[in-house]
Amino acid sequence: MMTEFLLLICAYLIGSIPTAVWVSKGVFGMDIREYGSGNAGATNTFRVLGPKAGSFVMLIDMLKGVLAVRLSYLLNFYDNPDHLTALVNFQIGLGLVAVVGHIFPIWAGFRGGKGIATLFGLVLAIQPAVALSCVGVFILILFLTRYVSLSSIIASIAFPVLILYIFNEREQFYRVFAIAVALMVVLTHQKNIVRLFNGNENKVPLFRNRSV
Ligand code: G3P
Repeated sequence: MMTEFLLLICAYLIGSIPTAVWVSKGVFGMDIREYGSGNAGATNTFRVLGPKAGSFVMLIDMLKGVLAVRLSYLLNFYDNPDHLTALVNFQIGLGLVAVVGHIFPIWAGFRGGKGIATLFGLVLAIQPAVALSCVGVFILILFLTRYVSLSSIIASIAFPVLILYIFNEREQFYRVFAIAVALMVVLTHQKNIVRLFNGNENKVPLFRNRSV
């Protein structure tokens, strides 16, 4: 039990790595949380610091979720196939703690991001097919609306729908987790939702204007 507890602490510390804050401060000499949407995440880094920095932040934030799940491999107990459900439940726990770390990072004054990239890494590590289906939903909504926030919200609402009705998941813990993820994403996007209703949410420019 002590080992599990220590692994959960490690998952939180990994999730807490504030990639966007460290990249903005370390490379650009500014704090990303003072610019754009004020969010310490990949989207705002793309927006304020460009695609190279944004892609890097997205990759590292996603890997935090994958790595947190992989911490479970340090436990020999779960090698037994009879313990598969316990393993997946513990992996979900590790991933969720990493997401909480990403949103409330101990290394950055507990002011982090909204958890999307780390959540994606978590689901990718556990159920790649579901993760990729959610990416499909995300891309479709982004293409139709050009709102990253709305795409994130709808993709995360699609997550429990896919789990329950398309992938027919029977494991109760997983079903509760999927619903909790959708609620968590709605909560972390409250400011975006207000901006969407007010009509002043940031849009992604899909095509740049060419000067003739
Ligand atoms: O993943 C965060 C995204 O959904 C919204 O980011 O910066 O537009 O608030 P932002």
